[in-house]
Amino acid sequence: MKIGVVGLGFVGLVTATVLADQGNYITCIDIDGEKVEKLNRGDLYIYEPGLSELFIKNKGRMYFSTKYAELEENDVTFVSVPTPTVKGKIDLSYVGDAVMSIASADGDTVIALKSTVVPGTARNFSSKIGRKMISNPEFLREGAAIHDTEKPDRIVIGGENEDYIDLVKKVWRFTESPILKTTNENAELIKYASNAFLATKISFINEIANLCEKVPGTDVNVVAEGMGMDHRIGKEFLRAGIGYGGSCLPKDTKAIVGYSKEKEAELRIVSSAIKVNDERVPHAVDIIEREIGNLRNKKIYVLGISFKNNTNDIRESKSLELVQSLEKKGAEVRVYDPLINKVDGMSFVNEKGECSDADCIVVASEWEEFASDELYEEGKKVIDLRRIVDLKVYPSVKGIGIYYE
Ligand code: UDX
Repeated sequence: MKIGVVGLGFVGLVTATVLADQGNYITCIDIDGEKVEKLNRGDLYIYEPGLSELFIKNKGRMYFSTKYAELEENDVTFVSVPTPTVKGKIDLSYVGDAVMSIASADGDTVIALKSTVVPGTARNFSSKIGRKMISNPEFLREGAAIHDTEKPDRIVIGGENEDYIDLVKKVWRFTESPILKTTNENAELIKYASNAFLATKISFINEIANLCEKVPGTDVNVVAEGMGMDHRIGKEFLRAGIGYGGSCLPKDTKAIVGYSKEKEAELRIVSSAIKVNDERVPHAVDIIEREIGNLRNKKIYVLGISFKNNTNDIRESKSLELVQSLEKKGAEVRVYDPLINKVDGMSFVNEKGECSDADCIVVASEWEEFASDELYEEGKKVIDLRRIVDLKVYPSVKGIGIYYE
């Protein structure tokens, strides 16, 4: 098939590469000339496990440009431009610009919205361009994006025009994943409700972690394990820690709460999940202070700066927020991260071992390589804020979500 992809951020690039790997021809458009130039040189500006190899293999079927006019005679054009949340409200200007430009460049292509948008968005733009649109929300996780695009749990296709729906189905049939066909509005809300639920699950276990810290004999990891054995609850997204970050959950929870308030049906549980999430870093700072006292001039060594493991993305990273909060309290912070060695205003070390003078080591993101380390045996204070260290193997490490005398 001939496919267009507009917006070459994380979702757009992964989608384009995976679809090229299926033998499709992809015209990729982004208004950022620098990005397009880099891609034309074969230079991927995002890190995602396996993406670079897949990109090199399929580059011959991908064409990159800043010009919408290049979008000609595509069967389907996906829109994957950003939808930031500004003052609690979704900003649809990028989506609007992209949809209008595609509609005037390619008279026939089916326009499918991958960007996360509030219910009613596809319908509004459909009436502006005089062409029905498809809602095809994206559920991929960073760090597992290729797997999630090739084998998603489900594919949601919202729309009214059966021919358009069939074309989008045809694009994804290689995945063999179940397809839910529905209205545009349901599809749009499914995306928000899913992300809001995941965020709520994380905040829920983080509140249980707070409770565990007050109750002798409890450990949030064991409580989560026992809860997760109930198939109605499920074990995923019950890892207690310093809260959720990244480019999606923080912005999407705020956007859907703002939208629900406008509709006079406030999602109060999601509002509370946001509040709990906002309190995670201050709570983590309290834990560190309790362990090592006043933070002024203390040397703290933080493991992990990305918003989670297997990515170099620092957008809305809780670890980044933690470092800033510790520094505000006068601590001298140095950071080690497997993929990142530069963030403006922060000190990094290149090797995990370079922390002989640290007063405290803090595990702040859930990289597998932080689960065990000789560092934890050297008699230093170590605090695991992501609960990935096996505390039976390293009994001197203190974990978030456990009662200590
Ligand atoms: C998320 C959704 O999972 C995905 O479906 C959607 O398309 C985009 O947003 P992503 O942002 O890549 O994906 O990250 P995710 O794996 O969901 O993790 C989000 C944050 O929650 C991370 O900061 C992670 O550290 C944190 N997290 C996750 C926890 O604190 N505990 C958990 O149990 C799971």
